[in-house]
Amino acid sequence: MYKTEIVAYANYLPPKAVTNDDLSTMVETNDEWIRTRTGISERHVSTGETASDLCVKVAQKLIEKSGISPLDIDMLIVATITPDFSTPNTACLVQAAIGADNAFAFDLSAACSGFVYAMSVADKYIKSGAAKNILVFGSEVLSAITDWTDRSSCVLFGDGAGGVLVRASETSGGVIAEDIHSNGADGHKLTGNALYIDTPFFDNEKQKQPYLQMDGRAIFTFATKKVPQSVSALLEKAGVSKDDIAYIVPHQANYRIVEAMAKKLDMPLEKFFMNIDKCGNTSSASIPIALAEMDEKGLLKKGDKIVITGFGGGLTWGSILLEI
Ligand code: UT7
Repeated sequence: MYKTEIVAYANYLPPKAVTNDDLSTMVETNDEWIRTRTGISERHVSTGETASDLCVKVAQKLIEKSGISPLDIDMLIVATITPDFSTPNTACLVQAAIGADNAFAFDLSAACSGFVYAMSVADKYIKSGAAKNILVFGSEVLSAITDWTDRSSCVLFGDGAGGVLVRASETSGGVIAEDIHSNGADGHKLTGNALYIDTPFFDNEKQKQPYLQMDGRAIFTFATKKVPQSVSALLEKAGVSKDDIAYIVPHQANYRIVEAMAKKLDMPLEKFFMNIDKCGNTSSASIPIALAEMDEKGLLKKGDKIVITGFGGGLTWGSILLEI
């Protein structure tokens, strides 16, 4: 059976950075509250770039880094909750832009767990032999579905994209194990961009609800309970000790969530990679953005084992054990 090896990492953030001080001129907030409650200092926001625009930048870097011909790419998956359109899907737009003419392409919606879910899908295609080279992205323009008058949410989110090229490999490494879950019954605790039906056949009296809304406390509690459980279950399944893990790369939602995770798992906080201070919460993009930054800094060493773990809307959560 083939292994799913990651051969290249890349990310792209829109150039415009918005600081906490910038936000304090728009809503009643301040740098101290945002930094101490979340760990965020600034976030990047789109000045017109869409989710596919961000992915195309990432794809170009992946092609350059790996030397792959776009014609050898079999499949593209974009994890996103902020697609350019309902149709065509974001991945098809990226396919066209980079000339991956032999690929098939689709989007996947699992909010902040989206990249973990997409890697799980890519892994199945590789292991079955159905695809050899797959581009997997997380890309979000959350600024488009953020209520910029609501201080409890607008300080949290950022825009950006990250991605990897995975390849069928006969050597060791790659995706070793996964632990993935959903709980639709609690989905109402984090919602965004509801379909608005107002037609000649139905006069909708409700307000449009395009924005991300969440019960922050409930999501905090869910994340700090379920994510450590998922990581523990993953390591147990794989028969790997937590001492053998070089890094945990969590979805970047809140510094305090990661602190709580480290405590519950009884692992040193230094093993949890964090870059939320510069990016904010970029939903499905946060893990691949972090991976590319780690790769650039030389933190991903051949043979090392790392865990990626996501959690969020759906509710969804899941973890994957990777050997670099
Ligand atoms: O990526 C998807 C998953 N999402 C998450 O994981 C998010 C999980 N939740 C969280 O990270 C935290 O719950 C938040 C960062 C969203 C909020 O932190 P909190 O410690 O739970 O604060 P809170 O919502 O309980 O609000 C505390 C106070 C309130 O004031 P009162 O009622 O105590 O007077 C808020 O009105 O802080 C106030 N507040 C703010 N103050 C200044 C809320 N937002 C702000 C703000 N600036 N931006």
